[in-house]
Amino acid sequence: MRIQKMIVPMAVSAASLVLSGNAMAESWRMALGDAAGGTQYELGTTFAALIEEKTDGEVTVELFPNGQLGSEQDTINNASMGLLDLSVLAINNITPFSPTVGVMTLPYVIQSPEDARTLTQGEIGTELTDNTIRDAGVRILGWAYSGCRRLTNSARPVASPADLDGLNIRVPRNEIMISSYQAWGVNPLPLAWSETFTALQQGVVDGQDNPYITIDAMKFYEVQDFVTDSCYVFSLEPLIMSESRFQGLSPEMQALVLEAGQEATAHSYDYLLETESSIKQRLVEEHGMEIIQPADGEREWIEMATAIWPDFYDSIGGKEKLDEVLAALGREPAPAE
Ligand code: MLT
Repeated sequence: MRIQKMIVPMAVSAASLVLSGNAMAESWRMALGDAAGGTQYELGTTFAALIEEKTDGEVTVELFPNGQLGSEQDTINNASMGLLDLSVLAINNITPFSPTVGVMTLPYVIQSPEDARTLTQGEIGTELTDNTIRDAGVRILGWAYSGCRRLTNSARPVASPADLDGLNIRVPRNEIMISSYQAWGVNPLPLAWSETFTALQQGVVDGQDNPYITIDAMKFYEVQDFVTDSCYVFSLEPLIMSESRFQGLSPEMQALVLEAGQEATAHSYDYLLETESSIKQRLVEEHGMEIIQPADGEREWIEMATAIWPDFYDSIGGKEKLDEVLAALGREPAPAE
């Protein structure tokens, strides 16, 4: 894919170019950690089309899928320094930079697309957006909803945590996810997303977890045979913009960018609901994956993993923050320590 970017001085915002009628086009670069075809791509292309339409073609957005612009965590650093305009990445890769976001990756907090929408589009989402601006220098413009993370592996059917014994599992570099696997009795290998397919292919690791849509987009079915139909974390993939880039835009252009982010988010939600079950079916029927139901309705997985919640209260803003999130989802407060 062509890499091209016009150098526009920060003081001369896109809006001043677009809205004043000066005919000088501008192109923004958007990094995607995933391959083309998944929810990141869908959100990215929708946002790009909306920006182009809303600016009458004065601003275009060029997508660079498959980690071409660096690992997902690298793209946060680059956006934060103003070296990259936009990135779509998994929320678990933002948490190391902005720990309060971790409330979204605590195991078994978000249990459905509806839960994910309630949190991202309510007060909690606004607060986490403010926190990532403050902590990481990036602004969340929108969200891709990718579905529950499902455990895949190449060795054997896994129905209960004991079945993980002896398996080498890749996890993102995210303390909450590392601890979740430790609670299930394994020591996972933290590895960048950009290295995951190769590690699975070369047998460096036996398994990993990601949503059905991502398993399909990344062609993990070529190197993984078994999927456990678990739902320990819901994969949210924010579209972030460099805050310095955003602040360089005129108020009109900022409003337009925020509006495009909201519209692309609404589309992403519908896209998940419309496609997930057919993608799951395709993984079985066309790609020969075997889907295993977690034993006992996932009870043991849930009990073991939620026991780690208190270890992260300090980083997410206290037990009160988790209780606030659970209340927003109509659930009981977390058990007293
Ligand atoms: C990860 O496992 O690191 C991410 O969830 C992958 C992704 O961005 O889709």
